[in-house]
Amino acid sequence: MTDQFNVGIIGCGGIANRHASVLSGLEVVNLVAFCDIAEDRAIGFNEKYAESQAKIYTDFAQMYDSEELDVVWICLPPFAHTNEVELAASHGVNVFIEKPIALNMETAGRMVEAVEKHKVKSQVGFMSRFGSVVENVKAMLDSGEAGNAGLMIGKYMCNALHAPWWREKGKSGGQIVEQIIHTYDIVRYFLGEPESVFCRAENIFHKTVENYTSEDASGTVIRFRNGAIATVTGSNGAIPGRWISQYELVATNLTVNFADANNATLYRTDVQPVQEEKLTSDRDLFHAEAMDLLNAIKTDGITRTPIIEGAKTLELVLAASESAETGKIVEF
Ligand SMILES: NC(=O)c1ccc[n+]([C@@H]2O[C@H](COP(=O)([O-])OP(=O)(O)OC[C@H]3O[C@@H](n4cnc5c(N)ncnc54)[C@H](O)[C@@H]3O)[C@@H](O)[C@H]2O)c1
Repeated sequence: MTDQFNVGIIGCGGIANRHASVLSGLEVVNLVAFCDIAEDRAIGFNEKYAESQAKIYTDFAQMYDSEELDVVWICLPPFAHTNEVELAASHGVNVFIEKPIALNMETAGRMVEAVEKHKVKSQVGFMSRFGSVVENVKAMLDSGEAGNAGLMIGKYMCNALHAPWWREKGKSGGQIVEQIIHTYDIVRYFLGEPESVFCRAENIFHKTVENYTSEDASGTVIRFRNGAIATVTGSNGAIPGRWISQYELVATNLTVNFADANNATLYRTDVQPVQEEKLTSDRDLFHAEAMDLLNAIKTDGITRTPIIEGAKTLELVLAASESAETGKIVEF
């Protein structure tokens, strides 16, 4: 493996802009191909991020056949996932993929199988795992310093109409699957594998918006195999222009109030008097997740969020969504 990475992007929309601006600033990355079914979007990316030096595709199968890619950044909307991961893996192309990786476990399972079979590296876009305080607290849990994690309270609040596909549950999966999945992933990251989940969800604030079939208020209770409990609440009826993603963790020796993944107040509760510490960081989480993947490729290492993690957190949010629909507890 050379020190330079030929990168292609599939899906040149909103979030791909964030990734392309990080990637275009990395000396080790050559942005060589942009693919979008809307050709003008791929052309726009080429002009903006690659001085029009990259190739344009409207079909990713052709891109894989024609280019010598090292990595592909997959930024497709949830409903558009088909076989782009399997094709990448069979061409030996490493994969970055935005969450949710699919809308059903069958597609997710095929992705995981292909990545494992062809031994390519993968990273799912759960960037909050790269928050500086999330990283510290995870290390304290793993080392035993924090004691046992017993409770998490997560909340995700925003108020926006988003893209037309986003509002349709059949295309996005709903707010839990498409968006609050970030919070469910952090809860899983800290507490381990779920045992059961119960969720209530409603469309309360957008009943009159045409084609808005997603829930916009939800509350979920999760029990984990180790006995820990979490609640995750979310809404798309909160403060316009603000995206609030906060969580609180209670462990035997440590309570943490996260303002976000980079900023939190830690309380050491195993000492008298209780020690309080504020941690702050302005780390660029998109840069961090990209560098982690490139380093794993270079060193044959392990990424923080391989595609199996994307599948496991998908299973959790799909279970929450199913519970909301059936009114029943879903057991794993
Ligand atoms: N990590 C985050 O914080 C974050 C934030 C926003 C979005 N996302 C995720 O990123 C993904 C994309 O979201 P977005 O807001 O950028 O969507 P978007 O609609 O802005 O962009 C998606 C692009 O994919 C293109 N596309 C659709 N089908 C295609 C296909 N078969 N081949 C090639 N291109 C195709 C569309 O034409 C569009 O340009 C979603 O899964 C979303 O959940 C993640």
